[in-house]
Amino acid sequence: MTLTVERATNVGPPAADVLLDVRDLRTYFHVMDGLVKAVDGVSFTIKRGETLGIVGESGCGKSVTSLSIMRLLDIPPGEIASGEIWLDGQDLLTLSPEEMREVRGNDVAMIFQEPMTSLNPVFTVGDQITEAVVQHTRMSKKEAWNKAIESLRLVGISNPERRVKQYPHELSGGMRQRVMIAMALSCDPKLLIADEPTTALDVTIQAQILELIRKIQDETDSALMLITHDLGVVAEMVEDVAVMYAGRIVERGTVEDVLVRPKHPYTEGLLTSIPSKGMRGSRLNVIKGTVPNPFNMPKGCNFAPRCPYRFEPCGAYDPRIEDAHPPDVACWLYTPAPGQTSAPRQSGPERQAGPMTTGAPT
Ligand SMILES: Nc1ncnc2c1ncn2[C@@H]1O[C@H](COP(=O)(O)OP(=O)(O)OP(=O)(O)O)[C@@H](O)[C@H]1O
Ligand code: SF4
Ligand SMILES: [Mg+2]
Repeated sequence: MTLTVERATNVGPPAADVLLDVRDLRTYFHVMDGLVKAVDGVSFTIKRGETLGIVGESGCGKSVTSLSIMRLLDIPPGEIASGEIWLDGQDLLTLSPEEMREVRGNDVAMIFQEPMTSLNPVFTVGDQITEAVVQHTRMSKKEAWNKAIESLRLVGISNPERRVKQYPHELSGGMRQRVMIAMALSCDPKLLIADEPTTALDVTIQAQILELIRKIQDETDSALMLITHDLGVVAEMVEDVAVMYAGRIVERGTVEDVLVRPKHPYTEGLLTSIPSKGMRGSRLNVIKGTVPNPFNMPKGCNFAPRCPYRFEPCGAYDPRIEDAHPPDVACWLYTPAPGQTSAPRQSGPERQAGPMTTGAPT
């Protein structure tokens, strides 16, 4: 089914160095109780070869954002109500399902949290990689089979000639994730989306898989969009970060800016009690209170019920990052609220600066 999506702008394709340009994406779910605005006006860009991390508490819309880019949502109950998703010069939301199948694998590939859900249990890993390669290249089956062996070797699987004939259940979790990476990379995508790629794995394997993603990303110069709960992983793996809350980006910037000098009270809360030096395995801090009920969003700022700094305008006006000055934080502490001539803060509270490391070998 071809999508009918309200466009966000009329400005046309982004500059040539921008690989992914997501503009005012709104993805909703129609459920029994009403409408869930899972992604509610998200915009960001990734340049060719660059890396973006997306962080935020569970349910804030990270996976729905990536599934919207891949056009892998269940529609219905899902709906991409409006937006534009420009990838390499074409708006994916205007493509037919056949054209989109071409894009997936050729231009963009995704690695999921649990590889078992995306590998087919009844085919060998060789068959699955071969099929992906044949679908997206002009290679013969024989050439694609050899390419599958080569890809498995590239992702560090020993004895790939034997492994290629095995079924997913015969492999360990770490090896299955390597197979997913091999499959994702076998067609040289321009953009790799990794949604919590290591959460299901034990710590040593996590570090190896991250190192592998980083090495391959470096070598192939593909861009990377990495979704993670682990701030150490963000610090090690990406250059830029977007922090999501309740379906929106509330702060964005370089890793240095966001993790060392967080501006938004939500980001500050996520980072509280995590020393910026040695962030190995640091998960997001649990912030007091709960994420707002999607059927009963607070008036004004979505974060107000949990925010220690809330003040008068917060309960009345909704801060949007598109209207923010400075541009990268959606909060009335920084942008003068309607009726105000100035904002209380110019910069975020400085955290202890220092090198940030993960368990991943460098
Ligand atoms: N198929 C669906 N039907 C209804 N609601 C959905 C569906 N998929 C996601 N949602 C809702 O959309 C919101 C965003 O979900 P999403 O999976 O993107 O969260 P997330 O940030 O990836 O969380 P996590 O860190 O737990 O993976 C949630 O409120 C979720 O309940
Ligand atoms: S706008 Fe107000 S409530 Fe929202 S995060 Fe900023 S200070 Fe807190
Ligand atoms: Mg998710």
